[in-house]
Amino acid sequence: MSTTTATPAFAPSVTMNPGGVKKIEDYLSLSEQELYDRIQAAKRQLGEHVVILGHHYQRDDIVCHADFTGDSFKLAQQANTRPRADYIVFCGVHFMAESADILSGAHQQVILPDLAAGCSMADMAQIEQVEAAWEQVAELGIESLLPITYMNSSAAIKAFCGRHDGVVCTSSNAVPLFDWALKQQEKLFFFPDEHLGRNTGVKFGIPLEQMVVWDPRQPLGGNTPEQLKQARLILWKGFCSVHGRFQPRHVDDRRAEYPGIKVLVHPECKYEVVSKADLNGSTEYIIKAIKEAPAGSQWAVGTELNLVNRLAKQHPDKLVTLLAPDLCMCATMFRIAPENLCWALENLAAGHVVNQIKVDDEPARWARVALDRMLQIQ
Ligand code: 13P
Ligand code: SF4
Repeated sequence: MSTTTATPAFAPSVTMNPGGVKKIEDYLSLSEQELYDRIQAAKRQLGEHVVILGHHYQRDDIVCHADFTGDSFKLAQQANTRPRADYIVFCGVHFMAESADILSGAHQQVILPDLAAGCSMADMAQIEQVEAAWEQVAELGIESLLPITYMNSSAAIKAFCGRHDGVVCTSSNAVPLFDWALKQQEKLFFFPDEHLGRNTGVKFGIPLEQMVVWDPRQPLGGNTPEQLKQARLILWKGFCSVHGRFQPRHVDDRRAEYPGIKVLVHPECKYEVVSKADLNGSTEYIIKAIKEAPAGSQWAVGTELNLVNRLAKQHPDKLVTLLAPDLCMCATMFRIAPENLCWALENLAAGHVVNQIKVDDEPARWARVALDRMLQIQ
């Protein structure tokens, strides 16, 4: 685990650990109750010097400690609303913590309680591949092209978009961001989620025939020069390993099982699933739709399991079920466990900054340009 020792901006009420940084191994045998109590105690001790942000896909035993919960967009906005917090403990995945670092104040430090909490989709687009793809397209003489990256991407790719007059979007604001982008340029290159790109393009009225997929392992992404010249949307071949598993047959099966059930899915699902669903939207949208639905209504929800289970518990007067019976949670979101959170907070309380996520100045500056454009447009 990466660590730095910092002078805390406040006086910790415990003696600084003379033995140095506390080890994660010492937390693995603690009981649930001990972990809960120690997390709460460390939070009290850190007071307003810490803020804990939790994505909606986090497990219940993490969400219960969060000061704010939200989807990627809401958490990006939250990152700079607590300027007095020296530490932003991000219970989510790596790209979210990077965005929080970029958007937060210079004096703030962002902590990811487990550095292995990455995102398989974000990893499907590497900056070198994106730069090579951009060059190949430019060599064909295609110039009227604007890059847009989904929030679920590295800071380097956000910076690439910032440098090329592009923008970041989330699943909450993809439609207005596409609207803005298509007023800037005729064509869009969308990274790294093929499905969100296609689903948003369709919402925006772009025919499927005017969309091509860019496979980074193939020359010209697996397309002919003519296909690329005719396309309005070039979609990077990336997908979410959770949402990508929902299939059209899951929609049919749920409808057969519960006649009249409403199907509500996240736009990271395949187009074939989204087009069969009644509604689709970001995790905030899904939460709002279920909350506002009448008692007795029935919902099959195509998104991450922890969120669906929580919604089912919070709304016992409605039937809320996962769209597919046999799908699992997001394994990387799940890596943020109470053991990691307790370890991170107790180290902070003792003056040790562990697992800091810090984006280098140059990419941070350009990524901020792309993120600020998003925040201004939305
Ligand atoms: P949102 O938070 O934008 O709904 O995205 C879902 C997701 O998969 C985050 O990793
Ligand atoms: Fe990445 Fe999908 Fe997990 Fe979100 S749910 S962090 S997109 S793998």
